[in-house]
Amino acid sequence: MIRLEDISFAYPGSPKILDGLDFELHQGDRIGLLGHNGSGKTTMFHIIMGLLKPDSGKIEIFGKPAVSEKDFTLVRQRIGLLFQDADDQLFCPTVLEDVAFGPLNLGKSEEEAVEIARKTLDRLGLSGFENRITCKLSGGEKRLAALATVLAMEPSVLLLDEPSAGLDRNTKEKLVAVLSELDLSYILISHESDFLSDIATTIYAMEDGKILTDKELHLHRHIHAHPLGTHPHSHKP
Ligand SMILES: Nc1ncnc2c1ncn2[C@@H]1O[C@H](COP(=O)(O)OP(=O)(O)OP(=O)(O)O)[C@@H](O)[C@H]1O
Ligand SMILES: [Mg+2]
Repeated sequence: MIRLEDISFAYPGSPKILDGLDFELHQGDRIGLLGHNGSGKTTMFHIIMGLLKPDSGKIEIFGKPAVSEKDFTLVRQRIGLLFQDADDQLFCPTVLEDVAFGPLNLGKSEEEAVEIARKTLDRLGLSGFENRITCKLSGGEKRLAALATVLAMEPSVLLLDEPSAGLDRNTKEKLVAVLSELDLSYILISHESDFLSDIATTIYAMEDGKILTDKELHLHRHIHAHPLGTHPHSHKP
């Protein structure tokens, strides 16, 4: 569904952020992406969406080269990007208008778009938020509303840039349930390894401008118990 080949990219006047990056996403893949702050994860998402142009390398989306703005207009109709910052995603006065905007833009009638928006909000536990003013939502509510705007467009692929950041445990569980039910391929950036291991089938790391696809990571949890386990304590490695 997505193929990046030998992609290099530098912001003007800055050193290379992506350096010979290769990556493929196939139908049904649920890939988790880890990487330290500033390693280029968000930059890679923006390159896939055509928001940034690589300095060199090839992008193929759904089997076709993506080069021109016209190619990327089609890409953006089928790949949904959840921005790292929800404020980049939400721009209408009310939640319902924001979520209905995408379907309307894709040619749905107003009634259809509102129906899709209401259903999507309901799925994310946001029924009752329809007429709330978007910019006055809490951080976690904004993140869910932003996800609703992406899901309402019924994309074939999701790029999720730290979807769980700032969510409480219950909301995170809800998000895990919603994402697990989706019959979609996705790439999920997160710094939370528990969240990634709940939801991704393959986990890769980004390092030195590349995705280390030959080094799949295997996240695992440890459960342990001992008599003083209820008291605050630490463990030496
Ligand atoms: N518009 C820009 N102009 C110049 N440098 C930028 C710009 N946007 C990002 N950068 C730099 O590029 C590098 C990669 O940024 P990017 O946002 O892709 O990292 P990231 O892996 O998503 O990090 P994080 O985990 O903190 O979100 C960082 O050093 C960042 O400061
Ligand atoms: Mg980022």
